[in-house]
Amino acid sequence: MEAPLNDVTVIVLAAGGGTRMRSKTMKVLHPIGGRSMIGHVLAAVGALEPRQVVAVVGHQREQVGPHITSIHPSAVLAVQEEQHGTGHAVRVAVDALVAAQARPQGTVLVAYGDTPLLSGESLRRFAADHEAAQRAVSILSGLVPDPFGYGRVVRDALGDVVAVVEEKDATPEQREIGEINSGIMAFDGDFLVEALPRLRNDNAKGEYYLTDLVQIARDGGMMVGAYAIDDVRQTEGANDRVQLAALGRELNRRIVERWMREGVTVMDPETTWIDADVMLEPDVTILPGTQLLGATVVAEDAVVGPDTTLKDCEVGTGARVVRTHGELAVVGAGATVGPFSYLRPGSRLGVEAKVGAFVETKNAVLGDGAKVPHLSYVGDAEIGEGTNIGAGTIFANYDGVAKHRTTVGRHARTGSNNTFVAPVSIGDGAATGGGTVVRGDVPAGALAVSAGPLRVIEGWARQRRAGTAQAEAAEAARPEEP
Ligand code: UD1
Ligand code: CA
Repeated sequence: MEAPLNDVTVIVLAAGGGTRMRSKTMKVLHPIGGRSMIGHVLAAVGALEPRQVVAVVGHQREQVGPHITSIHPSAVLAVQEEQHGTGHAVRVAVDALVAAQARPQGTVLVAYGDTPLLSGESLRRFAADHEAAQRAVSILSGLVPDPFGYGRVVRDALGDVVAVVEEKDATPEQREIGEINSGIMAFDGDFLVEALPRLRNDNAKGEYYLTDLVQIARDGGMMVGAYAIDDVRQTEGANDRVQLAALGRELNRRIVERWMREGVTVMDPETTWIDADVMLEPDVTILPGTQLLGATVVAEDAVVGPDTTLKDCEVGTGARVVRTHGELAVVGAGATVGPFSYLRPGSRLGVEAKVGAFVETKNAVLGDGAKVPHLSYVGDAEIGEGTNIGAGTIFANYDGVAKHRTTVGRHARTGSNNTFVAPVSIGDGAATGGGTVVRGDVPAGALAVSAGPLRVIEGWARQRRAGTAQAEAAEAARPEEP
């Protein structure tokens, strides 16, 4: 058992403009792995069970603020009107807490809103190390192949951390240092509150650097240090869309690998995309080209794919979903879907139900064993158990003004190429003929037909299409006259 952490306050910095995204959407709100970037950070932060979470917002705070509170309702939003550096941002956060009579004590952890790969486990280890070493300031550091642009962790001859120097302020020798400040830092709360007002902006960027607290603490005889993370990608931020895509691929690689270790078969990890909040049971099989998005859940022994996208769907045990696009749909145990099916919101398939090729469903409930095998549109409908809907059936749910429902009872058999003009109901065990347009209710057990009897007009092609290839073919097929 790890020792329980102190009271932890987390400050998430998200005031910067993120101009390199070239987007009307604020950087930290860009989606990756089914959440916003800051959504991933807030999830990781949750692992610390923090006493309070403060988010520093500035640019487009009317977008960012509500998003943060929708994820973490108790988060305090501190507004940084102008961005004068990370030290200034943290000061704004601390001032907001002090104003709310919630002066931070214990450990204060500072993270950025744009590091989607960050894990709660890493934050816990870092915070635990910080507390065990009783430091005033801890840096989550890392070794990177190209440290350009980062603050460098400067150590003395004994290996003790003495300062963090920003790229623009670094000497050529300091620029050679490969150990960087990830940006994630931990502080003793009392020290932080007392020392923040002592930051100065007399540096290359004219900003208040949070990292200057390292030197301030050391000069005050307090403990400072760095905790190196092996997995530096966890602290990587996405500043533009190229980095966003690279981090998205890496995040996905990690998620897919985790599910494989949990017993999921993934035939082609490269073309399989699984969002962070998806849940899979062991012995699920995912075939190439499949995206499982949002809050999708797939139960044991189900096979999904190839080439399938499911968003916020529920797939039952042993179901098969082939070349399908689905959203907010439920597929029962043992049911089969596809190929080329479109399950729109509100589609609910019972146990061993079937939605076949080129079938679109919306707000449609199919009972156990009900089948819509071919080329149909099923909108606003309820189909009873064991019923078979003929090929090419349209549930005409829209009269041009409003939507209406159709119900089909249990064990009914409807013919091919039917149109059910809603609102209409077809009873249990009823049947309809091929080509029927059902404009009224069909009672249980009845057969409904609406197509007229077949009329045959002999010699029509000869008379009405004389001189055409059609008439010639008809003539050639005529029996010899005796
Ligand atoms: C910062 C660190 C640097 C570290 C690097 C890691 C300082 C002085 N430097 O540098 O040591 O290696 O991060 O990526 O801390 N922000 C605000 N308000 C501000 C300024 C920044 O909210 O006034 C937020 C930004 O939105 C961003 C984060 O803080 O999420 C970091 O700011 P940025 O300007 O990117 O810092 P760097 O110069 O990269
Ligand atoms: Ca940065």
